[in-house]
Amino acid sequence: MNAGSTGIPACGLPVPPQIVILDAGGQYCHLEARRVRDLGVYAEVRPSEIPASEIAFAKGIVISGGPSSVYDPGSPTVDPEIFAHGQPVLGICYGQQLMAHLLGGQVIPGEKGEYGLAMLELDDAADPLFAGLAGRRQIWMSHRDVVGAVPAGFSAVGRTETCAIAAIAAPERKLYGVQFHPEVVHTARGMDYLSNFVFRVCGCQKDWDPRHRVPLIEREIRECVGDRNVFFFVSGGVDSTVAFALCTRALGADRVRGVYVDTGLMRAGETEFAGRMPGIAIERAEAQFLGALAGVTDPERKRHIIGEEFVRVQERIIESRHLLDENWILGQGTIYPDTIESGGTAKAAVIKTHHNRVAGIQKLMESGRIVEPVKSFYKDEVREIGRELGLSAELLERHPFPGPGLAIRCLCSDRDAAVRSAPEGCIVPVNSVGVQGDSRTYAPVLAIDALDHDRATCLANSVRGVNRVIAPVEPRIPLAEMQVWACSLTAERLARLRSADAIVRRMCHESGYDRQVWQFPVILIPLGTAAAPDSIVLRPVDSVDGMTAQSVPMPGELLQALCSEILQVDGIAGVFYDLTNKPPGTIEWE
Ligand code: XMP
Repeated sequence: MNAGSTGIPACGLPVPPQIVILDAGGQYCHLEARRVRDLGVYAEVRPSEIPASEIAFAKGIVISGGPSSVYDPGSPTVDPEIFAHGQPVLGICYGQQLMAHLLGGQVIPGEKGEYGLAMLELDDAADPLFAGLAGRRQIWMSHRDVVGAVPAGFSAVGRTETCAIAAIAAPERKLYGVQFHPEVVHTARGMDYLSNFVFRVCGCQKDWDPRHRVPLIEREIRECVGDRNVFFFVSGGVDSTVAFALCTRALGADRVRGVYVDTGLMRAGETEFAGRMPGIAIERAEAQFLGALAGVTDPERKRHIIGEEFVRVQERIIESRHLLDENWILGQGTIYPDTIESGGTAKAAVIKTHHNRVAGIQKLMESGRIVEPVKSFYKDEVREIGRELGLSAELLERHPFPGPGLAIRCLCSDRDAAVRSAPEGCIVPVNSVGVQGDSRTYAPVLAIDALDHDRATCLANSVRGVNRVIAPVEPRIPLAEMQVWACSLTAERLARLRSADAIVRRMCHESGYDRQVWQFPVILIPLGTAAAPDSIVLRPVDSVDGMTAQSVPMPGELLQALCSEILQVDGIAGVFYDLTNKPPGTIEWE
């Protein structure tokens, strides 16, 4: 089939691709290829050093970003012939630097790195790549080296405060470079740069329907896995389940296995839910986790212990199932945001501790024995793929749930302590986590008397020494009659939290409220009376990616109904509402 035709062949893949992405190092190139396909143009990834003659068919070439410096020994390069015959080339990030370097420009270490958001000043250049994009606009950067001097025949057309040459162009030769990442959602109008390249510069025709991505992913899985088998640690969440289902479809159920580890820190019904998935075995490790956590109250220590126990269980499974033998490769549900360095912060770091740092897993990674079928997709796209695979809405609409489970929603205290009154309300001496910049801080909580989001936002930022503001929903027992009790993570307290959480999940599902919020943690805090020592905090939030979040109100009737059911749970003295945005308060309480 010709690259320019509009039909899709029965196998679902137009051949040859109109756009070739040269892989200069890892994570970016797959997202770049996918973004071009999202524009309706079929693109494929090739090794960067492929001879120019083997990709002469392509209407355009993208040189991807990558983590190297052009001066590193053995860093990826491209056949310079690709620049010689008028084939359009767009270099992205490292790709721009490599283009500049190979064509006689200069690449130098930047004075400081530029990671994350920046503002691009783009000249009003009359060339097709930047058409309609002149002016000042947000972009996403991830680099240290910069182009110090452009090659002859090029001009620098864009800059940021840190990077003097952030976009280059030689329009007569159809050669372009950008230091930023147009493929990342944080780059404003990022798709317009790619669309200009694909349609205006390369003259491509639409030949691809993004809904055909499932056969493509399946083909990639088959190429990566070869005749080996795939093993997953699944969490019951959307990402790992979709990745697992894709592998099962691509390879057949007999070649894909999964284990779900029951840590004893799961929500009600969760293990049963995972156990119903075909091909998933359950590893029960409740006693191991709860034993290791007995008597521990410090939040960081709890997280650390859970991480360590997870590593032990994973190693045990890898050993006992002989997964290190070469017939096996590890499947992971890594999604795109997990791989963006600046998107990492505390969350990604912690996730890595639990799932990616096991020595056995690292060995598999080092030997290239990992398949990550959804690693170039964002969460909403993973959900769409799941729908195409026919996975249940119940699974796909699940909210994110943290790896350490209920442990980080069940707060502990190393001492009995009284609630203190303060000019703005009451200081509740339980330590909850907040976020300032990239670091996590622990501080007490301010309780005010009304569900007033505006006042709470103001106080969370102005009252010293607190990072979170809550209000009682139903002041059945006055706060002044409650205190904080010394306690740790016990089966009894976890059961209490599990019951309250199950009530919230059920009622929010029945009322449809769960579809209006991004996540709804339910937290147990050791605040109450001798007869009922704990309280529940409701934390419905809206967010895009979990990096920032807003506390959202909920319908009064639903809130009252939730509250009266939760107060029936044995040992619960009160129900509070978390009114804090992130920052300063994280979504989770630990
Ligand atoms: P925070 O509490 O940092 O949470 O505002 C942001 C998002 O990350 C989730 N989260 C975790 N997920 N392991 C996970 O798998 C963790 O240790 C962890 N900590 C927080 C949290 O649920 C929210 O969606």
